[in-house]
Amino acid sequence: MRIIEYITFDDVVIVPRKAPVDPQYVVLESNITRNHRIRVPILSSPMDTVTEQDLAIEIARLGGVGVIHRNMSISEQANMIQSVKSASPDFKHLFDTISINELDKSYLQSDKPLIITSNSSPIGAYIPAKSLSPALVEKIDLVLRLLRTGHVKPSLDNNGRLLVGAAISPFDIRRAEALEKAGADFLVTDVAHLHNVEALSALKKLAEKISIDIVAGNIGTKEAVLDILSKVESISGLRVGISSGSICSTGVVAGASVPTLTAVMNAREALEELGLFGRIPIIADGGIRGPGEAAKAIVAGASAVMSGRLFAGTDEAPSLLVRIGDKLYKTYRGMASAGAMKRRHAADRYSRPSKQLEEGVEGLVPYEGPLVKVMSRMFFGLQASLGYAGASRIEEAWNGVLARVSSLGAKEINPHDLVK
Ligand code: XMP
Repeated sequence: MRIIEYITFDDVVIVPRKAPVDPQYVVLESNITRNHRIRVPILSSPMDTVTEQDLAIEIARLGGVGVIHRNMSISEQANMIQSVKSASPDFKHLFDTISINELDKSYLQSDKPLIITSNSSPIGAYIPAKSLSPALVEKIDLVLRLLRTGHVKPSLDNNGRLLVGAAISPFDIRRAEALEKAGADFLVTDVAHLHNVEALSALKKLAEKISIDIVAGNIGTKEAVLDILSKVESISGLRVGISSGSICSTGVVAGASVPTLTAVMNAREALEELGLFGRIPIIADGGIRGPGEAAKAIVAGASAVMSGRLFAGTDEAPSLLVRIGDKLYKTYRGMASAGAMKRRHAADRYSRPSKQLEEGVEGLVPYEGPLVKVMSRMFFGLQASLGYAGASRIEEAWNGVLARVSSLGAKEINPHDLVK
């Protein structure tokens, strides 16, 4: 038997190449499906400690997009989609914006901060006498810093409403139809191993009934991509990576995995063979710890990344806040963990029973504060990384180069030899 080699994020580095522009001019716009393009190439995972309406609203306002999890009844999930679609796409709940030309004393009565703009860019702020909490001031500051780049805009549909996706099982046509009716912009299959005879024939039937974009996953091999696209031609995006997530235990309990970076490379190879690379976006899912992994996935061929771990610790995530000593944490769990599977059966007794094997764990992640903090780190980090990759936009980054580093090299690129 031939043993093949799979590589993962820590095995490679981005080869620095001549940057065509200064990183501040790098544009991160990217497609997440054939028909939807967003400003910051990041999706939040459909997990019950990560993406419900609050996080989906905030991440779309900040240029990314959320995928609402399916660990709830069909009507609850449809209601969440409607809440996102009816939310204001701007930051009016945090501050008002006024052009310098329209500045009038009467506005200074406002009890909300007032951001003064010139040519639509923030140039100053009026903070009302009523004192704002330091946390709110920090949040407003971070939002403004992102908006001021001119690159971050809300992710919107053609009617100016926030963009949102929803997770489905390929076996649940009723749910898919309800979510499409509720206004979901795209659906994402939420299966640990979609490359399965029954799941594929179910997906084929479902796709015939649905007209919005469908992202298929999770998959990790070239064969899976070729097989899926030969059976369900209308697939509009690929969600790739098996068992690289921080809460995944599939690789241990089932002994099966395709690390996210390898899954991206495999999907790219299949799409290139079909002449579809660049037309069907690859979404790298699992194991993204920061902009470094996201950039490596993009250079390998991904259009965007999906993460649960990055967002579970934020205020907007529906996870529980826990204090241990003087430190704050939030709960985070795999969707195939015992607790999440129990909730799924209770929430939707009509759903097809999933396997009984636990393939995920439950734990705590450090509390992060507002989502905008994480999105800022990702946005500015990705701009810098793409600069190193020699790219001024995502599609150019696909011409970038990854180099394999030795284990000693991998050790050396982390901070080292310090006393503390
Ligand atoms: P991160 O690294 O962001 O990964 O925590 C999130 C991704 O992990 C997948 N996921 C699971 N995989 N067992 C698994 O093997 C699970 O219980 C589980 N729950 C989520 C999923 O693809 C998610 O986006």
